[in-house]
Amino acid sequence: MTDPAHPGAFPADFVWGVATAAYQIEGAAQTDGRSPSIWDTFSRNGGVVEGHSGDVACDHYHRFPEDLDLLQWLGVDAYRFSIAWPRVQPAGRGALNPRGIDFYDRVVDGLLERGIQPWVSLYHWDLPQILEDAGGWPARETAFRFAEYASLVYDALGDRVTGWITINEPWCVSFLGYAAGVHAPGRQEDVAAVRAAHHALLAHGLAVEALRAKGAASLGITTNLYHVMAASDSEADIDAARRVDGLQNRLFLDPVLRGAYPADVIEDLSAVSDFGHVHDGDLELIGAPIDFLGINYYSRYTVAAASSDNGQTDAASAKAGAHGARRAPWVGSADVVFRSSGLPLTAMGWEVDSDGLRQVLVRVAREYDAPPIYVTENGAAYPDVLRDGHIDDRDRIAYVNGHLAACAAAIAEGADLRGYFLWSLLDNFEWSWGYTRRFGIVHVDYATQVRTPKASARWYRQLMAGD
Ligand code: FCB
Repeated sequence: MTDPAHPGAFPADFVWGVATAAYQIEGAAQTDGRSPSIWDTFSRNGGVVEGHSGDVACDHYHRFPEDLDLLQWLGVDAYRFSIAWPRVQPAGRGALNPRGIDFYDRVVDGLLERGIQPWVSLYHWDLPQILEDAGGWPARETAFRFAEYASLVYDALGDRVTGWITINEPWCVSFLGYAAGVHAPGRQEDVAAVRAAHHALLAHGLAVEALRAKGAASLGITTNLYHVMAASDSEADIDAARRVDGLQNRLFLDPVLRGAYPADVIEDLSAVSDFGHVHDGDLELIGAPIDFLGINYYSRYTVAAASSDNGQTDAASAKAGAHGARRAPWVGSADVVFRSSGLPLTAMGWEVDSDGLRQVLVRVAREYDAPPIYVTENGAAYPDVLRDGHIDDRDRIAYVNGHLAACAAAIAEGADLRGYFLWSLLDNFEWSWGYTRRFGIVHVDYATQVRTPKASARWYRQLMAGD
């Protein structure tokens, strides 16, 4: 996968974009009536490295016109951002807060004025704390609250938004938030995680039903998929890989694209949950047709059974190894371990495997009756160095270039891939890693809030311009 990606390898109407998320960039945590989210609480309670929080972040809430100008300079077709639920519906129910929704109204209009399609993620992890206090995602009611919130946001912005993503990465929401406890709300309760996964999916299904009734025609969900390999061809390792693939990928893909949970995963989880929380009709809602599937891809897993492990494990694999991880998210599979494949690592400790993206895209296209696909996130953190006002982030360029070549290869193999959103526009608050990991193609000096495009931004700009 070393061939340089070229726009010529993509359909003419391929959507080129970048992505961000509210809590990671907005700051203004207590402004204009925003209520606390679970990430405010989690940050305050020591869940994040060095005591960092999203209180100020990139101050995008106040500087968004400058950031929209950056998008215009880049020449993206589309910008994916998320709406902060506690900003627009601080009580987690009822009428929208006019000052909160007004902010997004201005962002949407600002994008349209600059000829950029707005793509909205309705949930990128900042649950109003008041709803966590009422039970959070393990409580069924949260799914209904989400559908109400989604409908109200659609009423306000639906006439101008191009793509609607219901939930970002339900795996992280449930297993990192409620089993591993490395993401907010930091709970470590396996049964709650399995319920949370279902209710995040149900929230998606209920929102699709509500928005469809209002005429929405571009609805999807974003899953974070991994290319999962067995460390050897031993039966034990192959089974360990099956279980990790089940929990990470199929537990979400199957309900959304087939309207059913995978039987083997239900079986793997039987000691934890009897799935009694799944009501009649839920899977019909969750499996209702969507207009696109969003895929976030960063890395691969090489999985072994603990029994066959030679001791060489890579605990840092993926977000599972997030800051402060004491407990793995692999509910029902305590005996899986992760091996290094010897591939280069990003600053997250994630292995760079661009061909894994090709495999993921082709797999979804072949094994599922999939709608059009968008890569809604892909990118990398590296230890960028600012020298004389320049950041020569060639590792990031190589990463994105390799993954775009993988996208082109997947399209050539029949995947109906329609667009690519690079993560991320700006350096930002990387969840439990705070500001210690930089994913931006634009550098942010957090002391001055000065934005400096990195070499990768100039490279991406040229690529999109077809130069
Ligand atoms: C994804 C998240 C995104 C960002 C990237 C690096 O899991 O959706 O917010 O943190 O990872």
